Amino acid sequence: MKNYIPIAFIAFFFFSCQSKEEITQQQYSVEGMALYQTHCENCHQADGSGLRNLYPSIKNSNLSPETLACLIKNGKKGNGFMPANAKLQALDIAEIVTYMREKWGGKKQIFPVDSVRLALQKCP
Ligand code: HEC
Repeated sequence: MKNYIPIAFIAFFFFSCQSKEEITQQQYSVEGMALYQTHCENCHQADGSGLRNLYPSIKNSNLSPETLACLIKNGKKGNGFMPANAKLQALDIAEIVTYMREKWGGKKQIFPVDSVRLALQKCP
């Protein structure tokens, strides 16, 4: 029983050192990684490098987060074909975009769910 107290104490200080925003950012990023693994990794690979000339690399993609949100939701047909993800909700998409921006954009900043909703209303 004695041991619980110091642990609770340490946990308290650990979490209180992080701002609420940092914690949310981490949540988005962790969830986003799981969603990426489920919905994207088969084609674009874990490291984002794609697969030969079948699936493009997305590591240096300079799409805006808004364009990316639409692309994830609606898919894309160019020379290749990327299926739509009609079942993904705005929050899922926000998490994926946040994860991708952190991993390949070097940007530790959340892309909020409200921005995704707005972007999805304006998809081409
Ligand atoms: C079935 C394979 C497949 C899956 C799954 C898939 N993609 Fe794609 N993706 C493609 C193909 C093929 C293209 C190229 C489409 C074209 O011809 O323009 C593409 C294009 C893209 C691009 C644009 C690259 C650029 O700069 O033009 C991005 C970014 C992207 N995908 C991200 C994702 C994300 C994020 C997911 C998961 C939500 C995902 N893709 C799931 C096959 C896939």
